[in-house]
Amino acid sequence: MSQPFTVSLVCWHDGEPLLKAIRSAVFIREQGVPEELEWDEHDATCRHALALTLQGEAIGCGRIFTNGHIGRIAVLPQWREKKVGTAIMEALLDYAAAHDYPQVDVDAQTHAVPFYQRFDFVEQGEVFIDAGLPHIKMSLTLKQ
Ligand SMILES: CC(C)(COP(=O)(O)OP(=O)(O)OC[C@H]1O[C@@H](n2cnc3c(N)ncnc32)[C@H](O)[C@@H]1OP(=O)(O)O)[C@@H](O)C(=O)NCCC(=O)NCCS
Repeated sequence: MSQPFTVSLVCWHDGEPLLKAIRSAVFIREQGVPEELEWDEHDATCRHALALTLQGEAIGCGRIFTNGHIGRIAVLPQWREKKVGTAIMEALLDYAAAHDYPQVDVDAQTHAVPFYQRFDFVEQGEVFIDAGLPHIKMSLTLKQ
């Protein structure tokens, strides 16, 4: 059976209300990230992945900077473990490959390290705290 959701790439201008709804639910309300840290000037220049149900409800998101930094990967709790996160990562990695980015990286929350390892991201350096949560940098080489 085909997936009961779609993932598309959008700019902040087009996706803002839906992207904000997902990130507010996951990062601010569920994980306790302070609102002033969640929203930054980078959203306007990033490319965003947006996952929607076939009924048009927003269920997941992520973003990639022009330098290949990936972040804000979030899936609503009731949609986790259904490959929505995988589809978001695939869309962002396809975008990076299409734009000849040599490498991508992510500041992974430590609980999500196994998720990123599935795409061959490799841990770099030490665990650090960001927005009150433990993170570790991970990178993936796309082109030698
Ligand atoms: C991390 C997150 C985006 C994963 O999304 P998801 O849609 O549940 O992921 P998928 O269903 O595509 O999972 C793909 C695989 O990774 C595994 N996986 C997913 N999240 C995992 C986690 N937190 N820890 C370990 N493994 C995980 C799944 O078990 C699955 O394995 P399988 O291929 O054997 O079935 C989601 O759990 C989430 O939004 N968490 C809260 C926000 C967050 O912490 N984001 C990461 C910020 S760095």
